[in-house]
Amino acid sequence: MINDIFKEKIIFKKNFIKLKNTSRDKNQQHTNNAFSEKWIQYEKTNDKEKFYDMQKNWYLKLYGFGSEKNLAKFLSSKKYIFDAGSGLGYKAKWFADLSPNSIVIGMDFSDASKLAAKKYKKTANLYFMKGDIAKTPFKKNSIDYVSCDQVIMHTKEPKNTFKEITRLTKKNGGEIGCNVYAKKALPRELLDDYFRIKTKNLSNKQLWEMSSQLTELGKKLNELKLKVNIPEVPLLGIKGGKQDIQRFIYWNFLKCYWNKEQGKTNSNMINFDWYSPSNAKRYHEEEFKSMIIKNNLKIKYFHKEEACFSGRFIK
Ligand SMILES: C[S@@+](CC[C@H](N)C(=O)[O-])C[C@H]1O[C@@H](n2cnc3c(N)ncnc32)[C@H](O)[C@@H]1O
Repeated sequence: MINDIFKEKIIFKKNFIKLKNTSRDKNQQHTNNAFSEKWIQYEKTNDKEKFYDMQKNWYLKLYGFGSEKNLAKFLSSKKYIFDAGSGLGYKAKWFADLSPNSIVIGMDFSDASKLAAKKYKKTANLYFMKGDIAKTPFKKNSIDYVSCDQVIMHTKEPKNTFKEITRLTKKNGGEIGCNVYAKKALPRELLDDYFRIKTKNLSNKQLWEMSSQLTELGKKLNELKLKVNIPEVPLLGIKGGKQDIQRFIYWNFLKCYWNKEQGKTNSNMINFDWYSPSNAKRYHEEEFKSMIIKNNLKIKYFHKEEACFSGRFIK
């Protein structure tokens, strides 16, 4: 049955297939390596469930489901679900459990795809592929729901990737849930861009060290419990108002993530994720919307917050 959706017959080894191992594009390969490192290290840690719960709650908000019950109802009406850029696969596993009669396929270009397949091998309706979501083996109009959460901006050319996930989505009602990182204040954008160039020459050891230093900085600033009345600086995109000093520095100058509930390991991982992959494009709302409109999709739900723009789009 699963082969109905592929252009050519695909032979999974149990629940996994390696379609493509590496990218010829330097930035994409660097991004794959960064995420392989992140997920391999993260898989060894103990606090993952807390992070997964936070991510799942955020997902329900980002894509307008509101509750897990609503998400389950939505997924249950879909036969084929594609988790494009599935990382360690916990969201694909979530979808597969919420909708046992659907077939869920996760795909990631990093080594996490293999880890996910191994971890969730007992889930009968769940498959994983290693490869590039910008060039998939799916037939045109084959997938009922594509979830592309926190992924598209890490791909070589997000516009092409978006076109590909639109191609494989079923016409007359197939849906895409996708988000993009939002552009932030100018000093933060400039530093982020500078770092994307720098990181290519840094070792993983250096990047993990820097991530934990950033976590420590975020923690120290947060512990000051200091609120400052910030004057607006529109030309630099700095918003005014009473703000916590850690959040002020975070949004305007430097990603120094710290979340007490998540603790150090998860905070480090979130800082690593930001400064390590060389591909991590950020968007203005209009740029994202124009990508949706150019692909002839209808906006069913749109959400914006300081970190990102997200929504569900119908073909
Ligand atoms: C920030 S993580 C998000 C993972 C997952 N969607 C989640 O929400 O936890 C981005 C993921 O996109 C994957 N990725 C980046 N470019 C890709 C590509 N061209 N094809 C497939 N996966 C890609 C990375 O390997 C990484 O696992």
